[in-house]
Amino acid sequence: MDIIVEKLIKEYDKNRVLDINKLKIEKGSLCGIIGANGAGKSTFLNIVAGLEKQTSGRVFYGNSSNEEIPLDIMTMVFQRPYMLSTTVEKNISYPLKLRGWNAYSIENRVAQLCKELGLTHLMKRKSWKLSGGEVQKVALARALSFKPKLLLLDEPTANIDPKTTGEIELILKKINIDEGITVIIITHNLVQAKRLCHDVVFMNQGQIIEFGRTAEVLKNPKYELTKQFISGELII
Ligand SMILES: Nc1ncnc2c1ncn2[C@@H]1O[C@H](COP(=O)(O)OP(=O)(O)OP(=O)(O)O)[C@@H](O)[C@H]1O
Ligand SMILES: [Mg+2]
Repeated sequence: MDIIVEKLIKEYDKNRVLDINKLKIEKGSLCGIIGANGAGKSTFLNIVAGLEKQTSGRVFYGNSSNEEIPLDIMTMVFQRPYMLSTTVEKNISYPLKLRGWNAYSIENRVAQLCKELGLTHLMKRKSWKLSGGEVQKVALARALSFKPKLLLLDEPTANIDPKTTGEIELILKKINIDEGITVIIITHNLVQAKRLCHDVVFMNQGQIIEFGRTAEVLKNPKYELTKQFISGELII
């Protein structure tokens, strides 16, 4: 699903934290969002997800006349996901129950996801007895359970060890390719952006400074601000 943004502005008490003139993230893309703390990354993603309301401007989903947030095919994973206080299995099956899947299909889908994410041995475990990385994987399994078309991720691997991060990246790549899911991921890890994302958006003080192929932006940035950010010299 294409995401098209036009003249998107968010202000808190007249303080402008987001100001995006135009952006189009194409269907099937795996797009990274990078930028310093406070750059407006989460604000942008929250608006796309409908969790926050913009001050003005528009976000279109799929085509340039549809502003309705596609709640049934979209999902978001946070850096610190909330867990339902029950088992791993029930956390993952919850979106399927809500959507009226039958017991047999739910069981198969949950088993398949747990296998892919290495969670099979944890299926009966209560969610409060999981480690941070395990919670993150369960949150991802739950997000993927109903086969969304748009996946929004806000620093999903920020607290996760390199091995688990690698596993999560593989899964994201796989679902992006196999199922054509559009993935937008905020990351502070430039190496991750390079490994994972076709395209990258660099944000600074609420604005998009640069948007393009990740390899190109990270290797030959066009703008001084991007260069400074990549080399760790950006002072805000
Ligand atoms: N509810 C709020 N009220 C006032 N200002 C806010 C609010 N939420 C966010 N902001 C401000 O908006 C700006 C952008 O915040 P945002 O959370 O989008 O940044 P970010 O790029 O996600 O940063 P980080 O990398 O630290 O997560 C920041 O200056 C922040 O202080
Ligand atoms: Mg953020």
